Amino acid sequence: MIKVDNQALVIFGASGDLTARKLIPALLHLHAAGHLPNHFFILGVGRSALNDSDFRKQVLWESPYLKPNLRDMDGKVVEEFAQLLFYQDLGGAYDVSYLKLKERLYALHGERETAGNTMYYFSTPPTLYETMARQLNEAALNSQENGWKRLIVEKPFGYSLETAKALNAGLQRYFSEEQIYRIDHYLGKETVQNVLVTRFANSIFEPLWNRNYIHHIEITNAEQVGVEKRGGYYDTSGALRDMFQNHLLQIVSLVAMEPPISDAPEDIRNEKVKALRSLRIMNDDETLHAHTIRAQYIPSVAQGTNIKGYREEEGVDPQSTTETYAAIKFFVDNWRWEGVPFYVRTAKRMPTKVTEVVIHFKTPHHQIFKDTGLGDRDNKLVIRIQPDEGILIKFGVKVPGQGFKVERANLDFYYKSLAQHHIMDAYERLLLDAMQGDATLYARADEVEAAWAFVDPILDYWATGKDVRMYGYAAGVWGPENADNLIEGNGQWRNPGPNLTDDPGYCVIC
Ligand code: BG6
Repeated sequence: MIKVDNQALVIFGASGDLTARKLIPALLHLHAAGHLPNHFFILGVGRSALNDSDFRKQVLWESPYLKPNLRDMDGKVVEEFAQLLFYQDLGGAYDVSYLKLKERLYALHGERETAGNTMYYFSTPPTLYETMARQLNEAALNSQENGWKRLIVEKPFGYSLETAKALNAGLQRYFSEEQIYRIDHYLGKETVQNVLVTRFANSIFEPLWNRNYIHHIEITNAEQVGVEKRGGYYDTSGALRDMFQNHLLQIVSLVAMEPPISDAPEDIRNEKVKALRSLRIMNDDETLHAHTIRAQYIPSVAQGTNIKGYREEEGVDPQSTTETYAAIKFFVDNWRWEGVPFYVRTAKRMPTKVTEVVIHFKTPHHQIFKDTGLGDRDNKLVIRIQPDEGILIKFGVKVPGQGFKVERANLDFYYKSLAQHHIMDAYERLLLDAMQGDATLYARADEVEAAWAFVDPILDYWATGKDVRMYGYAAGVWGPENADNLIEGNGQWRNPGPNLTDDPGYCVIC
């Protein structure tokens, strides 16, 4: 195991939802598994007037997100963890002098013998990031003279290419790029990292991973939930900014990248950014019209329950034109992918929650089994990101009997079969990586900017372009009626079920 330096974690926005929902549970698990350093503490910082004990109550003892965990955990371990939690009230605003915070932080560093090493975590609205970085600088809290300083920032990293560049420049004024860790929780998912392993630790896939053998690539990210309590935020964001620009383009970069020369963070990140820069930017209205679909969920009744439409959700403008469904077709302009279409969609209020990558292979170059009835049922490699995490290969087998009738068979692998390994939650994995100084699974400034350069013209077109449409889809169905129009020929989206092998007409070979 890589050693973790003694250190402090300072969370800005500590009384917010993310801290209680994701960060504290992840840290509690890391503590219980013995991954935290011997000398460590967490200092929550925020505008709410809390003291240490209120904070412990809020994010640990009385946290709705930890109820079942606390019941099952060793009480002594939880009590030890509680003793690591502290809170500093900034007094109603973030744009204030951090000298008091500095005093508290250094007192704790002294007591806890944490050598001045400090990880800052910005979990506030992004409009405050630059202000906080500036105030940290004014109090010399970014100085690495006594102990390293690192900064984790939560998405969104900007709202457009221009604002992303401004944000990067704003943070880089006070922290160097090596100190900045932009968190994208999809990169913390085991199954997303496994795209790299599938491709580069096997000799059976990579030779086929190109335009000669791959017909097209399909990526689906579907959520069953609507916008929940985040209508206000979501209405200013939409599916393209909320999911596609970050999580889905990160997955695209792992699928499309060239083999890195090693697993060193910069080697991997250099290849990812090259892949993102190869995305063909769509600039003309005609292509944007043909290659993008946006839609919004409208009210429906499912299993006797009324489901609200997007425009009726709390915090959403009743005339909103924000998309809750986005499907994009695009090409990657490089030697490997010339002519191979990528189809990527993301949406809320779909029939099920599922994220998967499907590699559709070309049909055999010369078909000798003409009456197979296979039609366009191609070989597929399905990489299931969530749920029922695993990998599925679809291939043809002979149906017993005379002649050569071919049927589609499944070869499947499930992560749950590796039950002896504890699978870390994305935030556990990513926090631990940053604490160890490993930025492999964090987004670099140039990656974020390359992703925005691709997304910006789509957003502009949707805002002001010619013939732009906003389609409706009943909450609980697979998107608008014309969703398949993006896919050439007789192609359709593979609308997957909750289980990896859900699909009519298959047999399972175990
Ligand atoms: C977040 C988005 O980044 O990812 C949410 O802001 C979305 O809108 C969430 O629900 C999905 O994450 P996961 O891990 O549940 O697929």
